[in-house]
Amino acid sequence: MNDIISICNSVLSRIKPTEAEKSRLATLAESIILRINAIAEQESISASAQLVGSSARGTWISGEHDLDIFIMFQPDVERKELEEKGLYIARKIAGESQSFEERYAEHPYIHAIFDGFEVDLVPAFKVERASEIKSAVDRTPFHNIYVSSMIKGLEDEVLVLKQFLKGIGVYGSELKTQGFSGYLVELLVINYGSFVKVLENACEWKSGISIDIEKHGTLVHKDPMIVVDPTDPARNVAAVLSLNNMCVFMDMACEFLKNPDEAYFSVKTVKPLDDKSFNDILKARGTSLLAIEFATPDVVEDVLFPQLYKVRESIHEMFERYDFHVYNKSVWAQKTAVVLFELESSKLPHVKRHTGPQVWAKEHAQAFKSKYTGSDTFSNVFIRDGRFMVEIPRKYDRAKKLVESEILNCALGKHIASSIKKEFHVLEDEEILNIKDNEFRKYLRNFFEK
Ligand code: UTP
Ligand code: MN
Ligand code: MN
Repeated sequence: MNDIISICNSVLSRIKPTEAEKSRLATLAESIILRINAIAEQESISASAQLVGSSARGTWISGEHDLDIFIMFQPDVERKELEEKGLYIARKIAGESQSFEERYAEHPYIHAIFDGFEVDLVPAFKVERASEIKSAVDRTPFHNIYVSSMIKGLEDEVLVLKQFLKGIGVYGSELKTQGFSGYLVELLVINYGSFVKVLENACEWKSGISIDIEKHGTLVHKDPMIVVDPTDPARNVAAVLSLNNMCVFMDMACEFLKNPDEAYFSVKTVKPLDDKSFNDILKARGTSLLAIEFATPDVVEDVLFPQLYKVRESIHEMFERYDFHVYNKSVWAQKTAVVLFELESSKLPHVKRHTGPQVWAKEHAQAFKSKYTGSDTFSNVFIRDGRFMVEIPRKYDRAKKLVESEILNCALGKHIASSIKKEFHVLEDEEILNIKDNEFRKYLRNFFEK
């Protein structure tokens, strides 16, 4: 236990914002809020700004300068009007920043950099209760009220748990990561009381674990973990957390408690995989690697990654349908996007045994027999285990050819489909080394080492 306490203290000394940093953040937040309110008044728009998220609750990690500023409109305003006027104000204030971009997820908002701080400017409705929200982001101010009233004295526990989750790679509720959101971390600490107690409990979790701090949940959820939102009884705060990431946390929680080590709190640095290591690894494993590469569509990650995951799944299904067995699969995206498969083999024999109907299914049997009489088969129709069979040439005996010919018949998602229609490349084994990007090479190492 002494070990754990001294590790936590050492981690905290790295990640806890200093008073100077806090006041720099508070000053900037206040000046942006005042500017927004002034712009709204000038333009006779009935809206006011509010700081939410971890920077409003004292649960942000030093150096991570993320300000979440909401521009709140009355709930009777039309959605279209909120988007227009909200973005109008946001653009105007963002015009005073170092740089900014508009981002559209479920909801339009602006991401700007002020003075080195990342600022999200988000229009939202000021509804009475979180259960009456008109857009997903409207819950956030309620989270703020709830957490602020419960978190006093537990802020450091939240910081340490966030850093632990970052270190093991499962922090973040983006659809790319499917990990733990900041709000989820805060609720876990509120529920269990401390960082160590969260870990002790997580070590005992099972899939389906349910936490309902306010004991007011109204729905049955099928997710691996259910944490009922204290501000909205119908909402599962852990809805995006994947079973994998939940299990990584459970396992690391048990391991850390057995063998506490500060290394858990650091993001591991990965060395890019060089050409020779790649070839050695592939030879040693005896598998084949296939990469499908195309230009990354210009959409936010919360739109891009669900589509990439969908493409990964639909190509996987196609491989299996054509008898190629998939060992590992994964996606990567920066300027170009890559869907990567490790196959048992990318080559299959040219002959394929094709199974037909049972001998007593007379009509089907007749149709099968008349279909395979030609000279383009490797065998006559024959009987095995009560069924007709025939050995025929395989349509695709190379995985690369299969993808090149059939990819447009896979479910690709709107944006990826249009990118692939323009251009894509299928790279096999050492051809993958044509992708020189350092980040890709780091990803490749992780792909093998896991
Ligand atoms: P952030 O993603 O900025 O998270 O969302 P955070 O809590 O401030 O944590 P860090 O320290 O920046 O990582 C801001 C707020 O939006 C709501 C939460 O209330 C959160 O505090 N939110 C965000 C959700 O409810 N769900 C999400 O998936 C993301
Ligand atoms: Mn934040
Ligand atoms: Mn944010």
